[in-house]
Amino acid sequence: MNDGGYMKLILILAFFICAQAYAAEDTRDHPDAEKAHEHKGKKQHGEGHDGDHDHGGMKHGEDGHGHGGGMHGDHDHGGGHGHGDGHGHGGKLDETRLKQFFEPLPASIIDEQKNAALIKLGKKLYLDPRLSINDKIACNSCHSLSNFGVDNEPTSPGHEGKRGGRNSPTTMNAALHIAQFWDGRAANVEEQALGPILNPVEMGMPSEEAVVKKLKGIAEYKALFAEAFGNEKDPMKYKNIGVAIGAFERTLLTPSRFDDFLKGDKDALNESEKRGLKKFINMGCVNCHNGTVIGGNSYKKIGLVVPYETSDMGRYEVTGLETDKKVFKVPSLRNIAKTAPYFHDGSVETLDEAIELMAKHQLGRDHVGHGMVRDIKAFLGSLTAKSAE
Ligand code: HEC
Ligand code: HEC
Repeated sequence: MNDGGYMKLILILAFFICAQAYAAEDTRDHPDAEKAHEHKGKKQHGEGHDGDHDHGGMKHGEDGHGHGGGMHGDHDHGGGHGHGDGHGHGGKLDETRLKQFFEPLPASIIDEQKNAALIKLGKKLYLDPRLSINDKIACNSCHSLSNFGVDNEPTSPGHEGKRGGRNSPTTMNAALHIAQFWDGRAANVEEQALGPILNPVEMGMPSEEAVVKKLKGIAEYKALFAEAFGNEKDPMKYKNIGVAIGAFERTLLTPSRFDDFLKGDKDALNESEKRGLKKFINMGCVNCHNGTVIGGNSYKKIGLVVPYETSDMGRYEVTGLETDKKVFKVPSLRNIAKTAPYFHDGSVETLDEAIELMAKHQLGRDHVGHGMVRDIKAFLGSLTAKSAE
C-alpha cells in the first residue's frame, strides 16, 4: 500500500474496472469494487430483497475484490471529479433502497404534553444524586445529558468508586431498543431504571423501601409524585420511580442529519458521508446495525465470523442457552462518534479501531482500506445529534 508504483497500478486497474463497468451498465446500477461483498449482506438478511440490482455487473465487482474496496474509495476522494460522484451513488442510495434498511427517528414517542408532570418528575430523579446511598451518584453521573448520555469511561465509577464490568451505554434513544442493557435483561427503560439504584457498584441503595423512605423525606418530591400520579392512592412507591424516569428517557431522542437525508434532503450528507453510507450498506454493517436507531433491534454474537476474545458471556447469562454465549444486543450507532470508548467492556478506544474490528470479526474482512474506514467513520459522524453540531 505504501509503495507508490503499486498504488498507481491499482489506481489504474480500479479506474479500468470502473470505466468498463460504467460502459456496461447504466449509472443506476453501477457496481463499484465493493459490490462483491454485497452477497454476504443478502445472505444474512434472508430475503435477497435487492437482488434485481445485482445483475451482470457483479462480475466486475468480483474482479475488484480485495484491494479494490479501499483503493476505489481513495481514488474517488482524491480525484474529486464529476464522474466519480455521479456513478458512485445514483440508484444505490435511492429512497426505496434506504427504506429497506433505515427509518428516520419519529418526532416523539411519548405525548409530552399529556405526560408533562411525569416527565418533569422523571428528569428530576434522573439528575438527583440523592437516589444513591451517599448522595453522590445520579443516573446523570454515568449517562450525562450534556454529554450524549455517556461518561466516556471504559467502565463507570459508581458507589465508592467501584466499577462494574461493562461500559455505560448511552441513554439517548435507548427507549427505542428492543430491550435494555448489553444483554437485554430489562424489557424497557421503566424496568431498567429500577436496577442501578439498588446496584451495589452503582447507586448502592440497600432496598426499595429505603429508597421510598428517603424520597418521602424530601418535601418537594411529595408534590411532584402527587402531580404525576394523581389518580393513585399511594403515588410514592418504588415502581413509580421507574415509570417517571422511563417517561423522561422517552423524550431523549436525537435527530441527526442522517434523518434529514432519509426524509429526502439529499444535501444533508456530504460526499464522504454518502460514500460511507454506501460502504456501510454494501459491506454488510447494515445487516445488524439497521432500523430507527441503526442497531438496538437484535442480538448478535461478537465474533460471528472470526472469534473475538472476551470473558463476558453476554446474553448467555440471561438465557442460559449455549447459542447465546458472547451474544450482545447490537448497539445503536446514533451519536457513536461521541460515545467512546466502545464495545461492551469499553476496551476499544477509537472509532477507527471499532470499525476495523467489526469488519474483521463480524464480516471476515481482515484488511479494510484506510479510505473505507475514513468514509464509514464520516457516515457515522452524520448520526450525531443535530443539536450538538
Ligand atoms: C455507576 C454508573 C451508572 C449509573 C449511576 C447508572 N447507570 Fe445506567 N448503565 C450503566 C452501565 C455500566 C450499564 C450497562 C450495564 C449492562 O449492560 O450490564 C447501564 C445501562 C443503562 C441503560 C441501558 C441502555 C442500553 O443501551 O441498553 C439505561 C437506559 C440506563 N443505564 C439508565 C440509567 C438510569 C435511568 C440510571 C439512574 C436510575 C442509571 N442508568 C444509573 C452505568 C450506570
Ligand atoms: C453480525 C452483526 C454485526 C455486524 C455485521 C456489524 N456489527 Fe457492529 N456490532 C455488533 C455487536 C453485537 C456489537 C457489540 C459488540 C460488543 O460490545 O462486544 C457491535 C458494536 C459496534 C460498534 C461499537 C458500538 C458501541 O457502542 O460500543 C460499532 C462502532 C460498530 N459495531 C460498527 C459496525 C460497523 C462499521 C460495521 C461494518 C463494518 C459493523 N458494526 C458490523 C454487531 C454487528
